[in-house]
Amino acid sequence: MPSETKVYYPNPNFSKNAYINSFSQYREMYLQSLDNPEAFWGEIIKQFHWETPVEYDNFFRYNFDIRKGPIYTKWFDGATTNICYNVLDRIVQRGYGDKVAYYWEGNHPDDYSRLTYRKLLEEVCKFSNVLKSKGIKKGDRVAVYMPMILEAVITLLACTRIGAVHSVVFAGFSADSFAERVIDCGAEIIVTADGVWRGPKFLGLKSICDQVMDKCARRNHNIRHCIVVAHLKRVTSPDNSQKSNKVHMKEGRDIWWNDAVADSSITCPPVWTNSEDPLFMLYTSGSTGKPKGVLHTVGGYMVYTAATFKCVFDYKSKDVYWCTADIGWITGHSYGVYGPLANAATCVLFEGTPFYPDNDRFWTVIEKYKVNQFYTAPTAIRALMKYGDDLVRRHDVSSLKVIGSVGEPINSEAWLWYYKVVGGEKCSVVDTFWQTETGGHVLTPLPGATPMKPGSATFPFFGVQPALLDESGKEIEGEGEGYLVFKRPWPGIMRSLFGNHERYEATYFSKFPGYYCTGDGARRDADGYFWITGRIDDMLNVSGHLMSTAEVESLLTEHKAIAEAAVVSKPHPIKGECLYCFVITSNETHFDDNIKKELSLLIRERIGAFATPDVIHNTPSLPKTRSGKIMRRILRKVAVNDRNLGDVSTLADSTVIETLFASRPVCS
Ligand code: WTA
Repeated sequence: MPSETKVYYPNPNFSKNAYINSFSQYREMYLQSLDNPEAFWGEIIKQFHWETPVEYDNFFRYNFDIRKGPIYTKWFDGATTNICYNVLDRIVQRGYGDKVAYYWEGNHPDDYSRLTYRKLLEEVCKFSNVLKSKGIKKGDRVAVYMPMILEAVITLLACTRIGAVHSVVFAGFSADSFAERVIDCGAEIIVTADGVWRGPKFLGLKSICDQVMDKCARRNHNIRHCIVVAHLKRVTSPDNSQKSNKVHMKEGRDIWWNDAVADSSITCPPVWTNSEDPLFMLYTSGSTGKPKGVLHTVGGYMVYTAATFKCVFDYKSKDVYWCTADIGWITGHSYGVYGPLANAATCVLFEGTPFYPDNDRFWTVIEKYKVNQFYTAPTAIRALMKYGDDLVRRHDVSSLKVIGSVGEPINSEAWLWYYKVVGGEKCSVVDTFWQTETGGHVLTPLPGATPMKPGSATFPFFGVQPALLDESGKEIEGEGEGYLVFKRPWPGIMRSLFGNHERYEATYFSKFPGYYCTGDGARRDADGYFWITGRIDDMLNVSGHLMSTAEVESLLTEHKAIAEAAVVSKPHPIKGECLYCFVITSNETHFDDNIKKELSLLIRERIGAFATPDVIHNTPSLPKTRSGKIMRRILRKVAVNDRNLGDVSTLADSTVIETLFASRPVCS
């Protein structure tokens, strides 16, 4: 493979001043992190405030082997701390009170503001006091459905200050998806905003929450309060309309944020939590359909996100850092909030899209704030690449030092464009592989140390021990391809699935006892570099959003016209993957454009707009084995119109193949 032959070395001028400045230093530290985790992490944890110190004989314990009993991971158990105190009070005490924590950049370029660490701390305390006054205590869940505004960060930190567990749901999920998550996590309070503009599109968040609260009530789940940020009246709307500003506020239940915080004190003592107390939960798609509430705990997550942020972005105190990920995803949590703040970083928080008001918005923002570290997703890179180099070159993006990628495999073409055009061939590209479940980066280059290969997430971070397994569970040594697993826990790994520890064990630890199974495939080349090959379970990754084929299929068959459905992923030049849905109509139903539109709408409404299928293919039959299992391998070939089907001898009826190709929709 040509991409493997060319290696890109970190810029020597950059390496000189980097925390980890050579590959040999990385190797040495890496080996130490495995040989002596107590010494390695013991040094790192000193920077944090522990109300009750970490005991070295209780440093970390775990069991990854289901045959030996329940799965667990514990780091610094018994030590007490508070993450909010560590990312705010501690930073202010160190003299960074007047440093900007966030530059907020609105959807419209005329809207922007900033918040210092001191002010952020005050705002957080005020909101913690509000939550307390509404009866929220340690361990209670708070559902968050918010746009990329400062109050979103404030809400998260206010929860953690009092030991409450935030459960953020991406504000692009539909009312159904949100309601299901609210009920599952048992939240009785929702924090939201009246609405938001994303590019030219309006999203009425409060009215979605109204539907959610109704749905919850019908299922006997009572939402006591909904706290609403009045966001719309302070921003510039793309079409100068005021019409969307009106929201319904239910007396006694719904409260405006500003009214709630008006008389609130700007101080609030932190609640000391055990290192292993729950910190937050975040839902991720499960391959059986029902979303999984990934649970992270305080101490390990705090230490791990702080350490990865510092090393992977090589953040220095005068730098400005920008992560474009929405706060509704793990990247927004770990590298939009906790990791950067723990390092007293100055961050950009951006509300809009890369395409509004023009396709050069990202480059405009980088120029405006002189961003030094930029972290985005391959889907955005591919979309922007298509507008050509000139849009980038029109802007001064020379402040950039490190440029990162996350969420899906980055193809070498997009990598090279990012490296050359955006990074000007002087910035390291950090292709960070990780998951909601891993809490932080697990495979990643270090910008001053790791020679890069376009499209490879390179090597493990400190404390992380990857392996590749074959189908029988045997470790593959040296070059090869297999299941990507991890042999031991690092501090940031998830601890459980909320309220369902058995599912946690079954999903991640049962296939290969003794290992955490990522669900991704990977290849190791002759130089030891890891290349992620994508999900091996029935999951799709559309623009970095994970979803399961099962959840889309079960929705499609809810439509009265549809008898059976099968969904596969199809490669897409920008989104990475897109949904290709095969549907069989029920008896006598004639498939037409109306049904097609209804199916699309059904998926948008029930999951969210990001899940809208690209192709809906009506077919009279699906390829099945004699035992009735759908052969998705064949469907994936049909989706890309590739007739090299390989072995089809296990098909119950081989005529179905011709039918499938013949019925392919014209523009798919
Ligand atoms: C995929 C996002 C290749 C992978 C942080 C993983 C990647 C899933 C990369 C997790 C990468 C993430 N290269 N694939 N650099 N980063 N993935 O939970 O399939 O939203 O399992 O976490 O995204 O997605 P999640």
